[in-house]
Amino acid sequence: MQSIRTLAIIKPDALRSGDAGKILTVIEDSGLTIEAARMFRLTREQAGEFYGVHKGKPFYEELLSFMTSGPCIALVLSGENTIARWRELMGATDPEKAAEGTIRKLYGTSVRFNACHGSDAPETARQEIAFFFSGSELPEN
Ligand code: CDP
Ligand code: MG
Repeated sequence: MQSIRTLAIIKPDALRSGDAGKILTVIEDSGLTIEAARMFRLTREQAGEFYGVHKGKPFYEELLSFMTSGPCIALVLSGENTIARWRELMGATDPEKAAEGTIRKLYGTSVRFNACHGSDAPETARQEIAFFFSGSELPEN
């Protein structure tokens, strides 16, 4: 069965540009539910672990510098088909290729500084949620 939860992150660029509230509004207007939220600044170690799948890629070190450059907001979202719907609302990784009206098109400025993160599959969603949230921070479902 499709996992009903996903992990979203409002990245440091979007907080710096004052777009976090607008992104939260997109989520609320979409009908997805915000189950939990935390604001924090990642350490380099945490960012490296979170993005471990990209280790060795040419953009890895700069991605870690970006993700540790300021606070993030991590959110647990739920709803029908949440993983795919959140990725659709975000748009393509590169804002230039993202569809009109998507978050990355509206608030991203480059393939790196793209405003938000979303899990890509049920298993990664489970792992990513557990990375940032303890069981007691999440409502029972
Ligand atoms: O975030 P998404 O799953 O759409 O893309 P990804 O391929 O998993 O890449 C993770 C993150 O790395 C992106 O969201 C960008 O912030 C960053 N990235 C980058 O800095 N340079 C690239 N050429 C590709 C991705
Ligand atoms: Mg990804």
